[in-house]
Amino acid sequence: MSDKQMLFKAEVNGEPVELQINPGETLLEVLRERLGLTGSKEGCGEGVCGACTVLVDGVPRRACLTLALEADGCGVLTVEGLALGKKVSPLQKAFVLEG
Ligand code: FES
Repeated sequence: MSDKQMLFKAEVNGEPVELQINPGETLLEVLRERLGLTGSKEGCGEGVCGACTVLVDGVPRRACLTLALEADGCGVLTVEGLALGKKVSPLQKAFVLEG
């Protein structure tokens, strides 16, 4: 792994984010380990199961296969961002019910 850091800037769930990251870090790693957004899960880690899916500029992406730098400058929406203010959205509720 390279120790060269790069600047990652994005809007995550409507909030501006600016982080130094390693170029090889996946979007899933940045979301879960750097930002504490653990709603996106690592299931297969191979782009098959969809447990890591987020929207990048409105397009579904497998975060386990997406380098964070591919989302640089983009809007990223995770399941946490679906909340309606402090209320759980119907889609979030469905995720909870289905485990
Ligand atoms: Fe299964 Fe990303 S963890 S598709």
